[in-house]
Amino acid sequence: MKRNTLFFILFIWTYSHAIYAIPTETKIPAQAAVASAHPLATQAGKQILLQGGNAFDAAIAVTAALAVVEPYSSGLGGGGFWLLHEQKKNKTIIIDGRETAPALAHRDLYLDQNGAYIAKSSVDGALAAGIPGTVAAMVHLSEKYGILSLKTVLQPAIKLAEQGFPVTQHYQKMAQFRLSVLQSFPASAEIFLHNNKVPKAEHLIIQKKLAQTLRLISEKGHAGFYEGQIAENLVSAIQAEKGIWQLDDLKHYRVKEREPVQFQYHDMQVFSAPPPSSGGIALATILQILQTYDFELLDETTQSHLMIEAMRRAYRDRAEYLGDSDFVKVPVTRLTHPWYAEGLAAGIHLEKALPSDNLHEIIPAVGKSVSTRTEGQDTTHFSILDTQGNMVSSTMSINYPFGSGLTAAGTGVLLNDEMDDFSALPGTANIYGLVGAEANAVAAGKRPLSSMSPTIVKTPQGIALLGTPGGSRIITMVLLGILEFEKNSDPSQWVKRARFHHQYLPDKVFFEKKAFSKDMITRLKKMGHQLQETDSDYGNMQAISWDYKQGVSAASDPRVEGQAIVFDIP
Ligand code: DON
Repeated sequence: MKRNTLFFILFIWTYSHAIYAIPTETKIPAQAAVASAHPLATQAGKQILLQGGNAFDAAIAVTAALAVVEPYSSGLGGGGFWLLHEQKKNKTIIIDGRETAPALAHRDLYLDQNGAYIAKSSVDGALAAGIPGTVAAMVHLSEKYGILSLKTVLQPAIKLAEQGFPVTQHYQKMAQFRLSVLQSFPASAEIFLHNNKVPKAEHLIIQKKLAQTLRLISEKGHAGFYEGQIAENLVSAIQAEKGIWQLDDLKHYRVKEREPVQFQYHDMQVFSAPPPSSGGIALATILQILQTYDFELLDETTQSHLMIEAMRRAYRDRAEYLGDSDFVKVPVTRLTHPWYAEGLAAGIHLEKALPSDNLHEIIPAVGKSVSTRTEGQDTTHFSILDTQGNMVSSTMSINYPFGSGLTAAGTGVLLNDEMDDFSALPGTANIYGLVGAEANAVAAGKRPLSSMSPTIVKTPQGIALLGTPGGSRIITMVLLGILEFEKNSDPSQWVKRARFHHQYLPDKVFFEKKAFSKDMITRLKKMGHQLQETDSDYGNMQAISWDYKQGVSAASDPRVEGQAIVFDIP
């Protein structure tokens, strides 16, 4: 045989085997799975998959159902990120349906004449609300990725809004937390309270107006919400409360399709949210710092110490560099480069904590950070896998429990307070204690920096889908989830893992009771860490595992009330 022919045969053999070796293209799961923070939303997703919908159709159904049954977490008045994997194209992209600042917003929107922050102005009421993106994302998902009609996939949510859902303990906890702001807006009190008080367990929350709004969207798509009667009602409700929305803000709202942040950690290919979320970049920094060590060989205390030091550095960079990359230059390539992580790792001492003050100073200087929130169980995540291997990992929010507290009369739509995710006064902290600089200052049309981190991890052995609410702690929870996945393909282990968190400022390690043993606490303190046990457990992770050998499994965080199911599609 001629040499050229031999090379040709060798080339074809190698090429065909290389293609064959790409796992996600060739594998199909035997079962479908849905994990969400509410059983009724999980069932809505299942119903749509059983009706012949794909993961993207089911994602719309779950998004809409959560908007109805978890009014404290997400909704038509909010936004989020939908990370999609299209199996046939082997393509992973993210839909950015994050809220935008209205056109009349500006850097000093939340400051008085003396330049001081006006208390609660970015948290409660009309001025706190960004232009919502969730409806645009649902319509986009339907038009570009779904196979069923929008009418069909919105049906379960419309039914839930019309017939009502029973109040749970979690609902009561959230409503109690926001009772005074809900009481201050009659249109909200009428729907979400009962006789102006937190409703009793099992009381039915019926949302006729929201059902009408959903129906209008199912008929008219994007225009059903962003133009016409609903848009007019939204704007007049906001303006009546001294807000600054205009009809054009809604009319011009568009989702953006973006490339996810993508990086390698050991044999894992991690996909997560890019700016305007900080999630993907921070995860890349932390994991790639850990990758510079023989992490698995270290004892548990040293591992935790390293994770804390990596978190400290990632959150420091978050504060300085991150914001909406359509408005400011975010050095994504540099921050996600393994060499950059190696540089950061070089400054870590294996036995000593470095006080945050000793890290390179941020200009303008960032001030004190006092985190006023610890619960981290509002905002919501869901994960879906269909039997074609399509996947959705999505985190959605209205920010604070029950968002801004303001429901626009005539629409049933409860508005977000996502504007608080901006640095209202660069250098100061928001409700999660997160400090930020100019990169995340308020500007017209800009998207506030998020921590939401819907994530998909691919390995030669299988896939993980995961995410959670939890404000600033979202990123570190997803980090711990990914590290659990590396050890174990059972998602119930990822969601129940005890958690800890450091965010640069305040310079403290927050930890759940079971995260560290007594001995570890002693050693970590000796290294110089300031430890603070959290008042309660936090997070609400919803995860799916597709192990190519063992099959599909799903799990819902035992800390809250979600439901994860795996089922056959006949
Ligand atoms: O986008 C963000 O990062 C926040 N608005 C998420 C808020 C949240 O998770 C609330 N949970 N405790």
